[in-house]
Parts: sequence; C-alpha cells; structure tokens
Amino acid sequence: MTALVNHQLRLARRPSWTATLEDFTVVQETVPEPGAGQIVVRVDWLAFDPAMRGWMNDGPSYAPPVPVGEVMRGHGVGEVVRSTVADFPVGATVAGNFGWQTYVVAEPTLESVPLLEHIHSAGVGTPRAQRVPEGVPATAVLGVLGTTGLTAYFGMIEIARPRPGDVVLISGAAGATGSVAGQLARLAGARTIGIAGGAEKVRWLREVAGLNEVVDYKSEDVRSRVAELAPRGVDVFYDNVGGRVLEAGIANIAQRGTVVMCGGISSGYSDEATAYGPTNLSTITVRSARIEGFIFTDFADRFAEGADRLARWVRDGSLRWAEDVQEGGIEATVSTMNRLFDGKNLGKQLLRVSHG
Ligand SMILES: NC(=O)c1ccc[n+]([C@@H]2O[C@H](COP(=O)([O-])OP(=O)(O)OC[C@H]3O[C@@H](n4cnc5c(N)ncnc54)[C@H](OP(=O)(O)O)[C@@H]3O)[C@@H](O)[C@H]2O)c1
Repeated sequence: MTALVNHQLRLARRPSWTATLEDFTVVQETVPEPGAGQIVVRVDWLAFDPAMRGWMNDGPSYAPPVPVGEVMRGHGVGEVVRSTVADFPVGATVAGNFGWQTYVVAEPTLESVPLLEHIHSAGVGTPRAQRVPEGVPATAVLGVLGTTGLTAYFGMIEIARPRPGDVVLISGAAGATGSVAGQLARLAGARTIGIAGGAEKVRWLREVAGLNEVVDYKSEDVRSRVAELAPRGVDVFYDNVGGRVLEAGIANIAQRGTVVMCGGISSGYSDEATAYGPTNLSTITVRSARIEGFIFTDFADRFAEGADRLARWVRDGSLRWAEDVQEGGIEATVSTMNRLFDGKNLGKQLLRVSHG
C-alpha cells in the first residue's frame, strides 16, 4: 500500500493581531498505519469559528490555548481511508477534532452527540471519530447540527426564551450561529430583526431565513433604525458582536428585556484589552433588564436533545442554513479563518481541504 503523506499546520508562534500563515509551520510527515481499534481519516472539510483566533493566544478562553508546536485544533469531516474497525470501514464518512492537517489517525466511537474533547484537550492528539447522521449533507454536522447550531439552540431556547409576539434582535445574523438563532426566534413566534453587513446578507435573511426586518449596519445607523422598527423596545437582544453593536442594542432594550451575550467578534479576539465596551450599561438598570452570557458547553448534557430538535427542523425544511465554502487546501486555513473577522462569510465558514 502506498504511504500517505500528511500536511499539517503547527502553531509556530502566537499571532500578535491578525493571524498569518507565517505564524504556522507547514510540516509533512508519513501517516502511520492505524493500530488496533484505529482508523486513518483523509480530512476533506474543516470548519472555522471565531474562537479559534482566541485559542492561538496564551490568555484565558473556555478552551485551553493551543500549545506552540502543536497542530491547530479544528473540527472536520473526512473519509476513512485505512481501517481496523468493522463499524468504520474504508469509505465511511466521519467527523471529529481532526485539526489543521490532511490526514489523521483517529479512534472511532459510536456516540452520536457532539463531543467536547476538541474543546477540553490542548492539542489534537488521537481524536475520536464519529459517523455522520444519514439524510443530511455531511457538512451539516460542522454547522447547523454542530456546535454553532447547538449554541444558537441553547442560547435562544434556554437563555433568551422568546415568547410569541416578542421583538427579538439578533446581531451577526447572517453568520453560522446568528442565522440559526434568528430562525429559532421566528419558529418561537417572535418578531425578528437581524443585523448584518451588506446587501447579499440582508437579502438572504429576508428571503431565505424569513426574518421580519434586517438592518445593514454597514450602511444604516443601528441605534436609530432599531428604534424605528421597535418603538416599544427589543424584548430580547441576542448579541454575537459586542462593541458598538452591543451598545446600540442596549440603547433599545425594552423594560425587563434580556441581552444574551453569545460572542463579541468585533473585539477581533486578539486582545480583549483594546475592545470597545458599551458606555450605556446604566440603561440595563433603568429598564430593569438583564444581561446573561453562556458557553454552549454549559449544556453538554443536553446536546442529544438539541441536535435532535435541530435535525427535525432541518429535515422538515423549517430551518434553512448556508455554508461558505472556500477552496485552496490546507494552506488556505489561516486566510479562511480570517474571513470571519472580515465579514466575508454567509453562514458556516468551511474549507474544502481535499476532493478525495
Ligand atoms: N457562547 C458560545 O458558546 C459560542 C459558541 C460559538 C460561537 N460563539 C460566538 O458567536 C459569534 C458568531 O460565531 P460564528 O462561528 O457563528 O461566526 P459567524 O457569525 O459565522 O462569522 C462571524 C461574522 O461576524 C460578523 N463580524 C465580524 N467582524 C465584525 C465586526 N467588527 N462588527 C460586526 N460584525 C462583525 C461578520 O458578519 P457581518 O458581515 O454581518 O459583519 C462575520 O460574518 C462569535 O462571536 C463567536 O465567538 C459563541
């Protein structure tokens, strides 16, 4: 059997601001044969989250920093190309924390809910590989049925808890998390207002995701436009952006409203110390409102429930999702991740690593 060559991106130093390819070492090594109970996976797809930029820092995050010298952590989908495990034959499609590399030796598991090991382990190590469910495209487990879908599910259903008729404002509304969160508010019977950048995203949110209103923060003043659209205030603000967008949402919060802090991508996750903070927090006091943050892992014991409900909405067509697919192989990982911070992605940011 011909030897397989793995191309890896190992973190060479901690990026100072925007990550570049120079912050990584490209390493080539022969893929070892799988031991008993192991498989070799060819990584076909990698998924990208803004949090990855934070994992390159040495500072606190909900996951440990990726150690310098290690393969960059990241979720992927691929095909089994060598196997010693009957339930995971050559040709099977699997998902796991495969990291920024083209092949990985993995240990399969029949567990179906998303696993947390990619969050809790420092490096990639020998990851576990899971079968992807039937009846949906394999890449759905990287987005709408993966961690971003679950984030939207628990953030909207459990923290925000919109009631029919509530006004729900969602920032980062055309991204992987925001696009699901907005639709979950719609499914709960709320009146939805999305905030996103650019005409294409505005169109998708209205015509495909079915939001009631969309504010283009790149061409409109968010604070005054939301005030026009929601004169009695916003009952729920699901914020993915932080900074000035968070400030504009707080300015419009209704009496006893809720601000859900899901993320703060406008900080760049490079250096929180330079991030802009809202200057109007006293509005929370005078409107008897509340702000609550969360991390999707808080709900790890309910992932099966969330994944099951999301899958049902996906299958019956009530939940739509978008993927932004980039090409370019493993060396395009850094530039693909940076698209999130430039607002270039509509829906889940993916990279096609291999065409098989
Ligand atoms: N709490 C949790 O457990 C959890 C889990 C996953 C993700 N998150 C957070 O959820 C948020 C969305 O993550 P995602 O993976 O779904 O990414 P995403 O929304 O698919 O991509 C990021 C989007 O953020 C917007 N953006 C980037 N820079 C911005 C800026 N300076 N100002 C305003 N908008 C900006 C861009 O959209 P526009 O073109 O519209 O600007 C971009 O497309 C992030 O803050 C992430 O950290 C939290």
